[in-house]
Amino acid sequence: VKLRIHHIGYAVSSIEKSIQKFEVLGYTAMGEVVDDVSRKVRIVFLENSGVHVELIEPTSNDSPVKSLIEKNGPGTYHICYETKGLEETANKLSKQGFKPITSISAAPAIDDRRVLFMYSRECGLIELLEVG
Ligand code: NI
Repeated sequence: VKLRIHHIGYAVSSIEKSIQKFEVLGYTAMGEVVDDVSRKVRIVFLENSGVHVELIEPTSNDSPVKSLIEKNGPGTYHICYETKGLEETANKLSKQGFKPITSISAAPAIDDRRVLFMYSRECGLIELLEVG
């Protein structure tokens, strides 16, 4: 499988403060901040040089994003890849040692498209995003 990169997920403590700093580096916000209630995060997408970065701010103390930031500081949280067939790609990756760590669900910050998070010890956390 050759999977195209859709965005880089980046964990931050405060979206508003981080947007300002990313703007200094030449990023532009692509839309409004979206509240992802089920995942207990707020999300906004930025763009620079055709690369999309998703800022993810935890909204709850029990969010895994929160503990990640406390442990490592702000930084890359996942890389998201596009796929036309979510189940099929997930099956292929499972055979290569990637383990699903969520069920397939809709992502409100990406037009409610279906996503699945998987993990491998070698690549860390990845997100699969179903595209038309
Ligand atoms: Ni993402």
